[in-house]
Order: sequence, then C-alpha cells, then structure tokens
Amino acid sequence: MSDYILEMIDINKSFPGVKALDNAQLKLKAGTVHALMGENGAGKSTLMKCLYGMYFADSGDIILDGENVSFKDSKEALDHGVAMIHQELQPIRMMTVGENIFLGNYPRTKLGLVDHDAMYKETEQYLEAVGLQVNPRTLLNELTVSQMQSVEIAKAISHHAKIVIMDEPTSSLTEAEVAKLFEIIEDLTDQNIAVIYISHKMKEILEISDEVTILRDGQYIGTWPANELDNNKIIHHMVGRELTSLFPPRTSMAQEEKVLEVENFTSPTALSFKGCSFDLKRGEILGVGGLVGAQRTELMEAIYGIRLHEDEGIIKKEGKQIRINRPQDAIRHGIALVTEDRRESGIFTVLSVSDNVAIASVNQYRHGPLLSLKEIDSVVEDSIDKLSIKTPTHQTPIGSLSGGNQQKVILARWLANAPDILILDEPTRGIDVGAKYEIYEIIGQLVEIGKSVIMITSEMAELLGLSDRIMVMCEGRISGFLDAKEATQEKVMDLATRFMGQGQDQQA
Ligand SMILES: Nc1ncnc2c1ncn2[C@@H]1O[C@H](COP(=O)(O)OP(=O)(O)OP(=O)(O)O)[C@@H](O)[C@H]1O
Ligand SMILES: [Mg+2]
Repeated sequence: MSDYILEMIDINKSFPGVKALDNAQLKLKAGTVHALMGENGAGKSTLMKCLYGMYFADSGDIILDGENVSFKDSKEALDHGVAMIHQELQPIRMMTVGENIFLGNYPRTKLGLVDHDAMYKETEQYLEAVGLQVNPRTLLNELTVSQMQSVEIAKAISHHAKIVIMDEPTSSLTEAEVAKLFEIIEDLTDQNIAVIYISHKMKEILEISDEVTILRDGQYIGTWPANELDNNKIIHHMVGRELTSLFPPRTSMAQEEKVLEVENFTSPTALSFKGCSFDLKRGEILGVGGLVGAQRTELMEAIYGIRLHEDEGIIKKEGKQIRINRPQDAIRHGIALVTEDRRESGIFTVLSVSDNVAIASVNQYRHGPLLSLKEIDSVVEDSIDKLSIKTPTHQTPIGSLSGGNQQKVILARWLANAPDILILDEPTRGIDVGAKYEIYEIIGQLVEIGKSVIMITSEMAELLGLSDRIMVMCEGRISGFLDAKEATQEKVMDLATRFMGQGQDQQA
C-alpha cells in the first residue's frame, strides 16, 4: 500500500481553446489538510472536478485507496467517499436541510415511501457532528452561507467521506465562521478524513494546511510541507516571478474638492445603518473598514439606490443635491457600484466576455445609430490585457471562465466605464495575488485622472495598503475616520468594535 489515500497522476484536460490541466498531479495523505494553490485559471477547480466525476480527464490516472477510478458522476464519487463543497454553493434552496443531506438517497419505509421521521432523526446526528444547531426541517433558503456549508459537510460525513474537497470555502464567511470551519476541519482530520483545501488566502493556508501543492497554467509545480513555506515562497511558486511588493507605490491624489457628500443616511430597517455622514474628495481612495455585519454594504447600496433610506438623508454630488431612487439615477450621475456577490448579481453567464465587459459602457461606442465594434474590441482587448483575464477568446461565454477570472471581467466592465465615483465592494475577493496587484494599479490610475473610489474591504492589509483615508463602521454607525498615514490595524479594530455590546437597538 502506498502512503497516499489519493494519487492523481499526469492528469490532462482540455476545453476548446484552453489546456486547463497539463500533466497535473496531486498526492494526498489520509487525515491531512492539503492546500491546492495557484493563480486564477491555474486549473484548481478543474482538477477537483475531474476527481469528483463532474469532468472526465482526457488522460491520466486517479488512484483512490490503491484502486484506479474514474467516476462518471458526483453520485458515484460520493459513494466512493469523495465529497466536494463547491466554489459556487449549489444547495437546493427550496428543500429542507434533511432532504439536502439525503438527496437521492432517502431512507424508505416498507411501502417504499420516503421515511421522513427516520430521515430527520438521522439528520440531527449529522448536524451535531458539525455543531450546527438548526432544525432539520428548515429550508436551506433560510440559512446563512456558513450554515449551508455546514450542511454540505454534514452531507459528506453522512456519506462516510474519506476525502472532502473545499473550493474557496471561506470567501464569504465572517471571522467567527472561519474559526468554526477550522474546528470542523480539525474534527474531520481527527477521524482520518483528508481535506483538500482551495483558497487564495495565504494566512489561512499557512494556518490550516499540512501540505501545499501549487499549480501554474495547469502544470504541477510542486508539493511542500506547509511549515517550509511562507507568503513569499508561495507567491514565487504561483506566479513564477518575484512580486517584490503587494501594493504599488503611490502618493495620495486626493484634492480639496468634495465630489460626494452623504448626510445623515438612516435605514428604515431597525438593525441597519443609521445617521451616516461622510464625504469623498476628488481623486481620493476612501477605504471602508469594519467587521462583517457593520452594514457597510447596506449603506453603499442605499447610496446607489438599491436600498431605501429615510427622507432626511441627502446626497450631494459636486456640491449639488441629487436624488437617487434607482441604480439608473446613480449611473446617470456618474456613480457605479461593483457588488460583493458578483457571481450572483453581476454576470450574464451566457453572454461572452466581450459583451460582459462592454455592457455598461456601450453608449460610449455609439456613433449615431452605429455601434463601433472595433472600439469595443479594443477596449475589451485592453481590459483582458491589463487584468490578465484568462480566456481563450473575446467571444467565450463568461460562464466557462474560472471563478476569479469571472470576477475580473465584472471589474473590467466598470473600469472601462470609468464613472466619476466608483464604489467597490470587496474588489479582490477570490482574486489571486498577482491579479490583485494589477487591480490596485488600475485603481491608482483611476484616481490619478481625477476619479474617486470608495472601497469596502475586509482585508486589513488592503485597507491599510491602498486607502488614502479610512472610514470605519460598527453596528450601522460610522465610528471614525483615520488618515492612512496614522492608521494601524489596532486603531481600525478599535473603531470597528467601538459600539459593540452597547445594545443600541434593543428597544427598536
Ligand atoms: N467548463 C469549461 N469550459 C471551458 N473552459 C473551462 C471550463 N472550466 C474551466 N475552464 C477553463 O479552464 C481553466 C482552468 O479553470 P479553473 O476553474 O480550474 O481555474 P481555478 O484554478 O479554479 O481558478 P480560480 O482561482 O479563478 O477559481 C481556465 O482557463 C478556465 O477558463
Ligand atoms: Mg476555481
């Protein structure tokens, strides 16, 4: 017997126009956490889908527990103890927790009917194993992303999984939820279950994994014990060149003029933002910090016209009061918002990369009744180039790009449109280190030509490294502003927790 529970050897997989995997390799030891890393489009998800029976590898061997396997679908993979928690969670939202866990595998009564009582009773035991306290009859729809993930893990346990694949599991979790996930992962490895963990977050990888395998352009670069690696080494292997600094050098471009003034914004909803006032200068990058739940997204959505706010709240653009009731109003006034859940709301899956980039700026290319396809093409070419978007052609449907590359396309859409004020909500979530740098550079170029940027980010390094000024929110209120020069992690955290436990909304 080999030391490995799983060996994937010389795996090749091509899609039209791309070689996604080029002799890729992964060797996994039982009961360990194995991180799989690489830039956007490196082939991480594809390799895992080949294992999980979603794609057929063109060639190569998959040896599970000493046996050569090739699963025809994910049900067969599950039956052989391989479970996968997807990058884009796909639970069936209108089914209950119990039904999701037993999907396709329901316990039956003697009469052949689904035995609901047995199903829900057994579900309880699996939920307990992942420490999830919800009723097994709850609809998936009513759970948070973190809870849905726990349900997926419970499902893996119910199938006696030997290997659990997690594809970017923490991209929308709070810190507390991440800590809880890590506990669950520890429990899994204690039971000799192996976890394959895909993430772009270095800190997490170094904290949780035993070994790290790195792919680049579909090729196997190597496998290392995590304790022999650090940030720089990982980046070096991933991008194949030195990245000397994580942030481009820059000086503040902020001018005196206020392009945006927001006064006294309050949500009609009790537990949301209240009394928020701030301004944004021309050429400024205003970072917005705070813990998840601070209502940063909600406040920005209200400014953009997606959410309601009370009548007394006003917005001024370049000193003049404007009214924004819908996003169209905001866009007309030169304000754009790139949302946090780009995958859900931002992409038009069946449209091409080109259409997805050009869709917001299409009027720029209109000359009378004619649309200049040539101009569109050159803008799209430029975006693909600047953000290193990995796509075979401009006409490829965006749905077939890797997760991170889809996000880059959506960003490119707004960067091409270059509105006066760009509100970015977690702009680099799911984006690899190299591409992050490129996004920072583009943000830098935008403010250089007098545009202004509001950037919500949960990454402390990004908040401190990119902002000219930092606004921090806590429980729906603005708890303070920091000049980037004097800001530190401690000062931000202090403001981010300033009003906690004061029970400000208890009477509401
Ligand atoms: N169904 C598909 N059809 C066509 N091309 C695909 C398909 N799935 C993946 N690809 C291509 O294969 C390559 C590898 O994609 P993959 O999703 O494996 O990357 P990844 O490493 O998971 O990246 P990310 O970090 O962005 O999620 C990309 O160039 C992608 O466009
Ligand atoms: Mg992926």
